Amino acid sequence: MSNCVAIEWLGEELRLLDQRVLPEATLMISCRNATEVTEAIRGMVVRGAPAIGISAAYGLVLAARGCPESADRGKWMSDARDLLAASRPTAVNLFWALDRMQDAVAAFVNNGSAAIAGLEAEAVKIHQEDVLANETMGELGADLIADRPGMAVLTHCNTGSLATGGYGTALGVIRSAWQRELITRVYADETRPWFQGARLTAWELQQEGIEARLIADSAAAHVMATGEVSWVIVGADRIASNGDTANKIGTYGLAVLARYHKVRFMVVAPSGTVDFDIPDGRAIPIEERGGEEVTHFRGQAIAPPDMRAYNPVFDVTPAHLIDAIVTEKGVVLKPDADKMRAIIA
Ligand code: MRU
Repeated sequence: MSNCVAIEWLGEELRLLDQRVLPEATLMISCRNATEVTEAIRGMVVRGAPAIGISAAYGLVLAARGCPESADRGKWMSDARDLLAASRPTAVNLFWALDRMQDAVAAFVNNGSAAIAGLEAEAVKIHQEDVLANETMGELGADLIADRPGMAVLTHCNTGSLATGGYGTALGVIRSAWQRELITRVYADETRPWFQGARLTAWELQQEGIEARLIADSAAAHVMATGEVSWVIVGADRIASNGDTANKIGTYGLAVLARYHKVRFMVVAPSGTVDFDIPDGRAIPIEERGGEEVTHFRGQAIAPPDMRAYNPVFDVTPAHLIDAIVTEKGVVLKPDADKMRAIIA
């Protein structure tokens, strides 16, 4: 996990590891302007909430670099921001990162190219801080697992180096717990329909030498019923003020199963994933992607011709099904609005 670099900033170019073709191919895609970064985010070259936010921040730097002398800088930068903001709707880290860049963007609008270094510094800071946050969360989450060591954990989607600036959120906790010999094995859901678990998490776990089993999403109930799993550990794309959490489709079902089987449920996400502007999960926009992600796999039909599909790619887990939300600012046990604000705001 540590060795795989999904986002590489080269100053005049953003290089992204193409997650559409992993694990068969390791291909870097080059983005030289905000339009190319937007397309990379929308097309899932880069994905995972923190990685999307970091990429968007670099996208603003590229926009500033490409701003013609004669252009209205304010309009140019606000167009670039709008473009990037429209790439994907659910992960709030995208909007959080664009907002964090706003002071540096304003300096560029006022002062021109002399201020590009400031924009770049802010984007690099967002990137570096994400790695540090993940390392902190890794230890905090592993501390929770230490209460019941020697069991397996189950995870969903991909939350590792590929989905973040590095180290990972939920996968960062798993990595720390594995290094501390607190867990025996990881069960990784394949994560239909895009197979983030099968293609990406399995790859990262293998690289790290962590004992793991890939399972069909529908095997999760059976695995939990064996009593082998102590925690389900997932990331988040947006957490509402009260702790309701949007994450990859299938997460909500896992939380219901976990409560039924007395397995604990942990959400791991940097504080930038918490959206204090919305009271609860009902206000989280849920992205719907094309039906071909369900009816086809890599161009190969797996359903009858012309079959229509419904493809919501996130769901919302209510806070009352979550035992712990781990952020770099601290752990919120049994989250509610007061505890969330006290620890994270
Ligand atoms: O559609 P994706 O692959 O961008 O969805 C990713 C997830 O749902 C992750 O679990 C979430 O972003 C947390 S990543 C650290």
